[in-house]
Amino acid sequence: MTSKIVIVAGGTTGMGRATALARAARGDDVTVIGRSRRDLPSSVRFLRADLSSIAEVERVSSDIASRHDRVDALGLFANRVQPKRTETADGLKYTFALYYLSRYLLAARLAPLMSAASVIVNVSGVGTTKGGIHWDDPQLRARYGAIRAQLQAGRANDLLGVAHAGDARYVLYHPGFTRSGLDGHPNPLVRGVLKTLALFAARPVARSVAPVVEWIEHPPADRLTTSDRGEPVDLSGKEADARRLTTYTQGLVTAAR
Ligand SMILES: NC(=O)c1ccc[n+]([C@@H]2O[C@H](COP(=O)([O-])OP(=O)(O)OC[C@H]3O[C@@H](n4cnc5c(N)ncnc54)[C@H](OP(=O)(O)O)[C@@H]3O)[C@@H](O)[C@H]2O)c1
Repeated sequence: MTSKIVIVAGGTTGMGRATALARAARGDDVTVIGRSRRDLPSSVRFLRADLSSIAEVERVSSDIASRHDRVDALGLFANRVQPKRTETADGLKYTFALYYLSRYLLAARLAPLMSAASVIVNVSGVGTTKGGIHWDDPQLRARYGAIRAQLQAGRANDLLGVAHAGDARYVLYHPGFTRSGLDGHPNPLVRGVLKTLALFAARPVARSVAPVVEWIEHPPADRLTTSDRGEPVDLSGKEADARRLTTYTQGLVTAAR
């Protein structure tokens, strides 16, 4: 068994945490990024950061690069529903910054440490056809809705996979409704409904992360793998949108410097 260097962004709870612990149990060198260590065991290293901030993502990326000469796996899990539109210190919509931009930036900054034997697993909502990029107002200044924001960032993550040009293998994974993240919704009513539904309809966390743990063990041969609950998703025809989003994103990152 070879020990791998694994970075899990958003690994303090839910599926990220389960992935981090499963890999640490196999002897990997695991670093979890999150806002608070919570009850993570000492078998994983914790890096505190608010990933909605560009400067914080840059800081943790530099920290990782100073400690490791390679990264074998990057798991992207961080997300949090925002019922009201909030802006980050960079003047971006919070959901866009956390759920999409931090994933773009972490993959870009850690790319020099990754090879064709490395894997990036982006856990989001591939296969969902609802939502899209609101090109006229990507920061949703004119019309905000929590679901609208989540769907846009989800579709942006699809485009991240399409645009991926690094050496690492890229996986877009939709785990399906899972018994995790249920405490994350700030509205108590929605939280209650979700928890009740989850009792009957949601998958156990261990089942949802099993493919992630396996992709880390054996990165796929293909440059891009898509999986919506085990089924591949056709993202062909999205290349122009992916290039457009990359250009828009690079502009945001440059403006933030
Ligand atoms: N659960 C489902 O049914 C389901 C279905 C499809 C897709 N997904 C996707 O799967 C991913 C993981 O979901 P989950 O259910 O495991 O959710 P979760 O338990 O709520 O995990 C989210 C993680 O993100 C971290 N996070 C939130 N805000 C952060 C910030 N500003 N900076 C750094 N870290 C932050 C949280 O840590 P802290 O709060 O400690 O910072 C936590 O570790 C998400 O992208 C979600 O959209 C989930």
